[in-house]
Amino acid sequence: MPWVVRDAVDDINRAVGRRWQGQDPWLPSRAELPEGCAAPFVAAGSNGRPAGLAVCRHEHVPDGTLNQTWGTAGRFSLILRVRDTDTAAAVDDLLGQWRDHLAGLPEAAARDTAAMVSWPSRDVTGVSALLRHGMQPLTVIAIRSAGNTSAGNGSARNAPAGSPSAGNAGLVIREAGPEDLDVMTEFELGVIRYDALFGAAIIRPATEALVRAETQASLGARPAWAWLAEQDGRPVGLVHVQPPGQAGWIAGMARGGVTAYLQTMFVRPGVRGTGVGAALVRHAHAVLDARGVQTTLLHYAQVNPLSAPFWNRMGYRPLWTGWEVRPAASLR
Ligand SMILES: CC(C)(COP(=O)(O)OP(=O)(O)OC[C@H]1O[C@@H](n2cnc3c(N)ncnc32)[C@H](O)[C@@H]1OP(=O)(O)O)[C@@H](O)C(=O)NCCC(=O)NCCS
Repeated sequence: MPWVVRDAVDDINRAVGRRWQGQDPWLPSRAELPEGCAAPFVAAGSNGRPAGLAVCRHEHVPDGTLNQTWGTAGRFSLILRVRDTDTAAAVDDLLGQWRDHLAGLPEAAARDTAAMVSWPSRDVTGVSALLRHGMQPLTVIAIRSAGNTSAGNGSARNAPAGSPSAGNAGLVIREAGPEDLDVMTEFELGVIRYDALFGAAIIRPATEALVRAETQASLGARPAWAWLAEQDGRPVGLVHVQPPGQAGWIAGMARGGVTAYLQTMFVRPGVRGTGVGAALVRHAHAVLDARGVQTTLLHYAQVNPLSAPFWNRMGYRPLWTGWEVRPAASLR
């Protein structure tokens, strides 16, 4: 990258980092602009300084990986860094340049592709431009800090593993182990099928086998980071967390210190709405707090009618919104 451009990138990164802190204290303190597939797109600003920069990154997620269940095979991501408080004009300009770039790439027209933008949920000034270019808010990364003592932390905080859950004598929460492989796989697939209704997951021929293999691997580790709820001896719900050592892929989305990722939350359909989910999450939070986890992140599908209110009651709130249009070349 020529030094003039690198200078502009450093300048924008610093300005965006400061702006993010004013908007949402949980956003990262630095706004790095990574290398893209070509030189950054530039939105013109006043005084010769760019109002914003953006880079496009191309990723091909191979067949036979679980990652392909969580999105399209071809992913074209735009990383936007906009200086001004009102981002609308610069975002509009940068999305227009990106549209023209994607229009020149035959592979961006393939069915199994997406054009993707992660945008800070509280940076509401950019939303109208994203909508105007045909993008849809598909997923949310939500955050909870260990210090958040809202409803989700309630009375089960001190409940020991394997004990009846407060308020429901027949409900027991216990750590999952290798003998739970079948039921855990069923619950993990249950969430994927539910999220597929909202476009947040795409079921592939290999999904079931990959989920089973991944579940087997995580059940072999001790201590387990997965808990089952049993109602009168029958498994009815699951919460499964990626420990900090495995959550590095997403930890940088927040400035949260020791960060875990809550990867799965599922309650059997007939049992939903009876407090099983809340009991499982309270139990998991108590253990995470005790293990020194400072921040927990999770994804939910924006239009999943059960998850947003549930997670909010459990102490989570939106941090980043994942915007997409499929296929990538249909960006307007
Ligand atoms: C999200 C989910 C885990 C919540 O589990 P749950 O055991 O239903 O949770 P709770 O009973 O503790 O709380 C659910 C809330 O919905 C209400 N509710 C009432 N009827 C309900 C029903 N038929 N189904 C779901 N929720 C219902 C409950 O009353 C409760 O609200 P309240 O606390 O204001 O009373 C569960 O709905 C589920 O498995 N959904 C499908 C998979 C999914 O969306 N996972 C999360 C992906 S991010």
